[in-house]
Amino acid sequence: MRKKIVAGNWKMNLNLQEGVALANELKEALAQEKPNCDVIICTPFIHLATVAGITEGTVIGLGAENCADKEKGAYTGEVSAAQVKSTGAQYVILGHSERRAYYGETAEILKEKTKLALANGLKVIFCIGEVLEEREANKQNEVVGAQLADSLFDLTAEELSNVILAYEPVWAIGTGKTATAEQAQDMHAFIRGCIAGNFGEQAAEEISILYGGSCKPSNAKEIFSKPDVDGGLIGGAALKCADFKGIIDAWN
Ligand code: PGA
Repeated sequence: MRKKIVAGNWKMNLNLQEGVALANELKEALAQEKPNCDVIICTPFIHLATVAGITEGTVIGLGAENCADKEKGAYTGEVSAAQVKSTGAQYVILGHSERRAYYGETAEILKEKTKLALANGLKVIFCIGEVLEEREANKQNEVVGAQLADSLFDLTAEELSNVILAYEPVWAIGTGKTATAEQAQDMHAFIRGCIAGNFGEQAAEEISILYGGSCKPSNAKEIFSKPDVDGGLIGGAALKCADFKGIIDAWN
């Protein structure tokens, strides 16, 4: 049985004190009622070490939103996979469309980051997704297939077992415009097929594929009900405990 997961992506929101308060609130909410899925929060680098002290020993997993494509050394302002791991975090988001679009992260860079993250014992939440023009031109499968192939297909099946995929249509991120449950299912089935083609049926059956893009308590249940959707990567709605908990509860 593959894992059901709800992961939050705080992006560049919340100062340290606000982040600590949110992590504590979530910890209390989940202590009262055990979630029916894995729960992960991905925070800015500066929150990680402190939030790790809050999430340790709880059901909440912790991740970063990025890491460097270099192992260590003179790369001012960068944070390495080993440094992320040393905070107590277990996950890292890579390939988010905001990193691809605003920071020029190419498939090649993401390949390096993924290798380093896995080599340092982090699990990778790898994001893929098409922009609106690509969907309108019916090129979404081609685009997503290439994103997978160009960054991940050199991994071993063992390495892939520490990767979670997140399909995030760029036109749905932060826009309030969610993909329909059918659109999500179609793409997730396509993605699983690509994984099967390169890594075999078992790897495809075991990999969790999350949906991301304006997921909220009101639409999560329908999207998660689809057979190839294994949970969500949540941006805006992860910033309020009640909303994030509402999405987690979609698995109940
Ligand atoms: P959103 O962001 O839920 O605010 O649309 C999702 C994401 O970018 O991971």
